[in-house]
Parts: sequence; C-alpha cells; structure tokens
Amino acid sequence: MKILTVVGARPQFIKCAPVSRELRKEHEEVLVHTGQHYDREMSDLFFEELGIPKPDYNLGIGSATHAHQTGEMLAGIEDLILEEKPDLLLVYGDTNSTLAGALAAAKVHVPVAHVEAGLRSFDRRMPEEVNRVLTDHCSDLLLCPTETAMENLRKEGITRGVHLTGDVMVDALLGHAEVAKTSPILAELGLERGQYRLATVHRAENTDDPAKLAAIMGALGDLGDVVLPCHPRTEKMLKNTGLYEEANRRIRLIPPVGYLEMLALESSAHQILTDSGGVQKEAYVLGVPCITLRETTEWVETVQDSWNMLVGSDHEAIVRAARTFSPKRERSDVFGKGEAARAIAVIIGEKTE
Ligand code: UD1
Ligand code: UDP
Repeated sequence: MKILTVVGARPQFIKCAPVSRELRKEHEEVLVHTGQHYDREMSDLFFEELGIPKPDYNLGIGSATHAHQTGEMLAGIEDLILEEKPDLLLVYGDTNSTLAGALAAAKVHVPVAHVEAGLRSFDRRMPEEVNRVLTDHCSDLLLCPTETAMENLRKEGITRGVHLTGDVMVDALLGHAEVAKTSPILAELGLERGQYRLATVHRAENTDDPAKLAAIMGALGDLGDVVLPCHPRTEKMLKNTGLYEEANRRIRLIPPVGYLEMLALESSAHQILTDSGGVQKEAYVLGVPCITLRETTEWVETVQDSWNMLVGSDHEAIVRAARTFSPKRERSDVFGKGEAARAIAVIIGEKTE
C-alpha cells in the first residue's frame, strides 16, 4: 500500500526515522516535508544523522502565523494527496504540520494514522493541545504511546482504531544510544560527565512572554552550570527583548545540536531543565532528573514516577527545585521497549488487508 507521510518539525524527523524504516520493508512511502523547520541544524542534519530517506516533496512553507502556516500547508498537502492518491496518510505528534496533514486527508476521505495519539496536557492555550485534539478527532488509526493516552481518548469517546504501540522516541533513543556515546560533543565543549545541567527552552508560553523568558533565563543563569542548545525561536526572542547578551554571559548558549549530540549531552548531564515534550521523556528513559519549565505535562508518567518535576517559569521556584530535586524511585518501561515502530507497521498493514 501507498503511505503519504507528512513531517515538518524537528521532533517529527526523529519520530519518523524508525517508523519509516519499518514501513518501507513492506509498503511504499512518499515522504512530505512541509518546510516548517528549515535551518540546517533544525532539519537536514536529522535526515543525515538518522538516515531518513530524502523527502519526495518539500513544500517550503517556512515560518508564519498559525493560520497562514497551517493554511498554506493544508493547500499544499491536498494537492499532493490528489496527485499521489495514497491509501493512508501518516502524521506524528502535535505541530501545525500534524494538523494540516490530518485535516487535508480527512477532507478528501483518505484514512489518517496518528502516531503519538491521545496525549493531553488539558491546557487549550497551548497550540500543541489544539493540534492534538483536532488531529485525534479526524484520525482513523490512533497509535498511542501509553495506556494514559488510550484512556484520554476513551474519555473523549474515541475507541475505534485505537492501539497501544509504545513510544517511537524510545525506539529512536535505544537505536542510537551506542553511536551517541562516540559523539565528540562533550570534549568539543570542554564538558565533564556529571558536571553540568542541560537545558532547552522553546515553548511559545515561555518565549513569547518577555517576563517569563527573563525569569527562566535568570534562573538558569543563577544555577551557573547550564548548557543550552538554543532553539531559533528562543534566540530570536532573546535578541528582540534585549535579554541575549546577559543570558549568553551567564548560560552556555550553543546552537541547536544534532540528535546524537543531544543524546550524548542528555545522558552525561546531572540534571535536565526543559519545556520540551521529547526531552522530558528522554530524561526519564536515560535516568536523568528532569525539571520541567511548564505548569502541565502530557507525559504524566514521568511526574508520577517522581523523575520529573513541574515548576513553571518562576525564577525562585526553578532555582529551588533544581538545587533540591533528587529522584529516588524506580523507573519503568511505561514508554515501551523500543518496539513501537514495528508494532505501528503491523497495525498499518492490517488496516488495509
Ligand atoms: C514547533 C511546534 C512545537 C514543537 C517545536 C519543535 C507548532 C505550533 N509548534 O514550534 O509544537 O515543539 O516546533 O521544535 O507547530 N525558526 C527558525 N528556523 C527554523 C524554524 C523556526 O528560525 O528552521 C524560528 C522562526 O523565527 C519561527 C520560530 O522559530 O517564527 C517558530 O517556529 P515554528 O515552527 O512556528 O514553531 P516552533 O516554536 O519551532
Ligand atoms: N533535540 C535535538 N537537538 C537540540 C534540541 C533537541 O536533537 O538541540 C531533540 C531532542 O533530543 C528530542 C527532540 O529534539 O528528541 C525534541 O524536540 P523539541 O524539543 O524541538 O520538540 P518537542 O518534543 O517539545 O515537541
């Protein structure tokens, strides 16, 4: 069968790598990049490092407001669906590229499969939450990473086409953990294992409010040992608000890094501070204590097991939490054992039998 896969943002490249490999053993995949992320270190680098096939199409949409970005993607994806006539459209996660792909397909009656279905933060102010809910409600195959995600869908009345697969990010992590150990990034940055904190910040709620951004950067600066691969959105906002110079003096700001470099930096950090969804999970799987710079999380298991602490964006609260947080509990394989991509390929194959 012919599958049209739509990706566009950094975490989606990582998620599609293991799935694409499995799907192509039995099916034809047409890979569409919306162009939502376009800088080399936000896009091409991942295709190279993870061996993802070159996209068949790049819509080159780029950055814009939500409506303009999503709307242009919708039109571009519809054209490709009509041309390629896929049997199924596959989307990942919760970005504008995800929603555009799912909606375009649903409107022309092409079945939609959603990897990472059922995740909820229950905060509708997050653009990602709107994308998740709408995507799930127009999907035919809902591929859930966790039991919690299945339960969230059940509460919304979605029970058909729902499958528990495990999390494809665990597949990607386990598949690259060994090679990541050979990354020279720590030596290049002059870092010692266990001697630094790793941070990432890019969430709209944290970057678009200058007071919150200043509070977070102030707290990371106070901690004194923070390395922060800086998302282009955050760099832009720091520069626009005049916060960049001071942040750069007090925090080790570096450009976004590739996936292998990121795994190496994460696994050798003594603590991670982040507002990323993917990084919270990776911290849990790697056993690195995580402070989340948000009020809510969709990855509730990481908090329930006490390896992740939600602190929001308050300066003092971040510093206090970072200085005292010390997880002791056992972790589990709640996100799966790295076999999610295979499970997804099997479910997709059965769908068309
Ligand atoms: C998007 C997703 C978010 C995801 C994140 C992963 C939406 C609504 N948000 O957020 O869920 O967690 O990707 O990283 O889909 N920019 C560049 N170069 C790039 C890409 C972006 O400079 O290659 C800058 C532009 O100034 C742009 C800004 O970053 O306006 C935001 O980019 P955008 O794709 O709209 O959202 P993200 O914050 O990246
Ligand atoms: N990541 C990376 N380089 C970086 C920052 C993050 O490779 O400089 C990886 C990270 O390890 C995780 C994914 O990108 O696998 C998370 O993406 P991001 O934080 O952009 O988005 P989110 O998960 O919040 O949607």
